[in-house]
Amino acid sequence: MQHDAIAVVDFGGQYAHLIATKVRRLGVLAEIRQPEDPIEAFQRYCGIILSGSPALSSHGEDSDYTKALYELDVPILGLCFGHQEIAKHYGGEVVHGGREWGHADLHILRDHPLFKGLGPVEQVWMSHFDSVAAVGPEFEELGYTTSKDGSPDHRFAAIGSDSLRRYGFQYHAEVDDTLHGDQMLGNFVLEICRAEPTWSMEAFMAEEREKLQAQVGVESVFLLASGGVDSTVAAVVLKEALGPDRVHLLHIDNGLMRKDESRKVVDMFQRLGLGEHLHFVDASNDFLAALEGLAEPEAKRKAIGNTFVEVFNREAEALGIQDHLLGQGTIYPDTVETGGTKRADVIKTHHNRVEVIEEMIAQGKVVEPLAELYKVEVRELGESLGIAHEALWRHPFPGPGLGVRCLCSDGVPDTDDFERLTREVALVADQFALHPLVLPIRSVGVKADLRAYEHPVLFSGEADWPTLLKAASTVTANVLGINRCIWNLGPGHPESAHPVPGYMTRQRLDLLREADSLVMEGLRRHGIYDDIWQCPTVLVPLSLGGGDEEGETIVLRPIYSARAMTATPVRLPDALLDELRTSILALPGVTGLALDITSKPPGTIEWE
Ligand code: XMP
Repeated sequence: MQHDAIAVVDFGGQYAHLIATKVRRLGVLAEIRQPEDPIEAFQRYCGIILSGSPALSSHGEDSDYTKALYELDVPILGLCFGHQEIAKHYGGEVVHGGREWGHADLHILRDHPLFKGLGPVEQVWMSHFDSVAAVGPEFEELGYTTSKDGSPDHRFAAIGSDSLRRYGFQYHAEVDDTLHGDQMLGNFVLEICRAEPTWSMEAFMAEEREKLQAQVGVESVFLLASGGVDSTVAAVVLKEALGPDRVHLLHIDNGLMRKDESRKVVDMFQRLGLGEHLHFVDASNDFLAALEGLAEPEAKRKAIGNTFVEVFNREAEALGIQDHLLGQGTIYPDTVETGGTKRADVIKTHHNRVEVIEEMIAQGKVVEPLAELYKVEVRELGESLGIAHEALWRHPFPGPGLGVRCLCSDGVPDTDDFERLTREVALVADQFALHPLVLPIRSVGVKADLRAYEHPVLFSGEADWPTLLKAASTVTANVLGINRCIWNLGPGHPESAHPVPGYMTRQRLDLLREADSLVMEGLRRHGIYDDIWQCPTVLVPLSLGGGDEEGETIVLRPIYSARAMTATPVRLPDALLDELRTSILALPGVTGLALDITSKPPGTIEWE
């Protein structure tokens, strides 16, 4: 069946595929297109959405795309960068400035089909450096924004031309933080493009089955099965499409798993009826050897990814599994955050996107049945395939496991530009009556779609939750070089902090495993495990001054999220925080404890 479809032009913003999944949720097929695709590739769509981008429209960056698409007689909606490009193309002006970050209020200026069913003021979500300063003669302003922090109005947050059927939103309508963004996208797709909603998850599964059978032919698939939600659903999808005898599973204990995790995973695959072709190998020595002496996050990620492939090939040979394809439970955010779509900035190299794997993908040797789906869709698919609730609703656990939660350091403080950071943070944080300390280490984050490897700030002192969140968002938005804020749960108000040397050793990983298991048990005991998306526990080789002893710091990162592309910090119950304060600070070698209070962006969920 030929479905009505929308093209989402991926300018490399983190959100292009999120737009596509939101459109699919409406029951309308959405396909990702590259900006330089020939005009013929756009002919089949009944509407086009232009995504955001890390590029600056004001500087003419990324302006070499297929402009002929503006001549097509179908509605076009631009979001963020796409909005600015539409304004510019039709005679408006885009300037560098008017930056907005996070929530803002959109004031809608008149009744319009795009805003059908919505109120006069809507919460929207912003992340941009450039803005539209004027629109061309055929356009009108449909809405402007005021920021929650009371900063002045931003004009042209929504623009449109009904005669041309061209529209633009400065905000990201596709993220959940734009409260009625789904409705706005729905209005564009269903009311303005008049698309028929005929696409569904069953349609996806039927098409995927055919695709897998065609790609795999008579060969078999050897799947890396960590036991996380994605590899579990991928294993069952492959079994359904190819039959159980052509699907072999390999579970590798890479030494970076949670406490007792490998044993539990093997049990789970047995319960799913996949035990017969499940192979288990303890390769922790290989991984620890590859990680020895590494501290830089990308170097660690690449070492882990490469070791997976080495161990996998070695095991395939030892087991005599020949002519196989490599199966992976890769889902969409893994590829977009590695820069897997043509223009996205490399924020993190995911373990299943290292160079050797990219080469195998180019040769057609990799099978990834979930590569176009987000986590919620994977879970939905898993449910329709009859996978048990507890297997599907486990917290996501990254492929490199505790490798990205065990930060490493040579012990030398990373203090470039420290005086400025300390001065600016003190100025900005003054209004919050908290004691700020810039930390001499870095963690990975994401700002305006670009990777940010910057310093965290530790806040000490008492404050209510909204004040803590406000302090974190104000400092990260206003001080260049700060991408994360944490709140001290340990003793005193540390006046200084220094890194202690620490690499990926079994001893440090065991310590992290203990802390992580205390956190997981605590979340379950308080009945909130299912409410939150994920709660990484991070071991940071940092000694916080103020206490009597030298030791490392544990950071808790509980977040709410729907798709991992954005996240909000969670306020854990006071009783749980008290219990964790006692139990974690009693672990040998731990002297500091803090709670991450940063949203994503600008902090990523994992610290590396
Ligand atoms: P970040 O830290 O980028 O994480 O905000 C987004 C989501 O992805 C998970 N994550 C990974 N998953 N391989 C994976 O399979 C990886 O290399 C990886 N890195 C991060 C992370 O736990 C979160 O759910």
